[in-house]
Amino acid sequence: MRTATFITALAASLATASPFPRAAGLTDLLLVTTTQCPSTANSSTLANVSATSLFDPYDQKNYLLRTISAGYGSLPTFNLTNGDLHTAAVGPEGVGNYVYNSTGTVTEGEELSLAPTAEPAGNLALKNGYLLTVGGEEEGWSLCTGAAGALSEPVIYWKANGTSCTPIYIHAVKDAPY
Ligand SMILES: *[C@@H]1O[C@H](CO)[C@@H](O)[C@H](O)[C@H]1NC(C)=O
Ligand SMILES: *[C@@H]1O[C@H](CO)[C@@H](O)[C@H](O)[C@H]1NC(C)=O
Ligand SMILES: *[C@@H]1O[C@H](CO)[C@@H](O)[C@H](O)[C@H]1NC(C)=O
Ligand SMILES: *[C@@H]1O[C@H](CO)[C@@H](O)[C@H](O)[C@H]1NC(C)=O
Ligand SMILES: *[C@@H]1O[C@H](CO)[C@@H](O)[C@H](O)[C@H]1NC(C)=O
Repeated sequence: MRTATFITALAASLATASPFPRAAGLTDLLLVTTTQCPSTANSSTLANVSATSLFDPYDQKNYLLRTISAGYGSLPTFNLTNGDLHTAAVGPEGVGNYVYNSTGTVTEGEELSLAPTAEPAGNLALKNGYLLTVGGEEEGWSLCTGAAGALSEPVIYWKANGTSCTPIYIHAVKDAPY
C-alpha cells in the first residue's frame, strides 16, 4: 500500500509536463510558506507568502523552521537529496559550520527539524518541481505556536494536532518573495 502510494507519487512527479515554473532543480532552494497550492512565476504573489529561516528557540542542537518577515539578513538555501533537506549553517552557540540535515523520516505530529549529523534517508520530495511533500503528500504542513513548550513564534510541523496551527503549503522557490 505504502509502496503503491509512493510509486504513484513518483510516477506523477516524473510524468509532469510542468505547467508550473520549476524551482532550480533540487539545489539552492528557498522554502516559503503559503496558503495556496499552485505555484506562481513570482513567489511574491503567492497567497500569504512568508520566507522561512532556521530557528533554535531553546538553544537546542537541532534547528526548526520559522517564518521571517522582511528585514532579514539572509535566508537559508536547501538541497534535497535522499529524501532529506540539507542546508549549511553555523553550529550550536555559533561555533563551526555544518551541513544540517532533516532528521530522516518526517513524522506526524512533529516539527520539521534539521540536525548537524548524518541522517538516514527521509521521505521528503518536491512534487511538480516545487511542492514539498512527505511520503508524496503535500497537505499536512502547518505553522503552530505554543505546540512545543512556550514557543512564541510559529514553527513548521507535519500533521500537527494542536489547536494553534494554521495549515500551509511549502513551496521551493528560486527567488525570495520579499
Ligand atoms: C516579483 O515581484 C515583486 C513585486 O512585484 C518584484 O519586486 C520582484 O522584483 C519580482 N521578482 C522577480 C524575480 O521578478
Ligand atoms: C490568508 O490566510 C488566511 C488565514 O489562514 C486565509 O483566511 C486567507 O484566505 C488567506 N488569503 C488568501 C489570499 O488565500
Ligand atoms: C547544494 O548543492 C550545491 C550545488 O551542488 C552545492 O554547491 C552546495 O554546497 C550544496 N549545499 C549543501 C548545504 O549541501
Ligand atoms: C497528538 O500527536 C501526538 C504525537 O503524535 C500524540 O502523542 C498525541 O496523542 C496526539 N493528541 C491527540 C489529541 O490526538
Ligand atoms: C549531512 O548529510 C550530508 C549528506 O548526506 C553529509 O555529507 C554531511 O556530512 C551531513 N552533516 C553532518 C554534520 O554530518
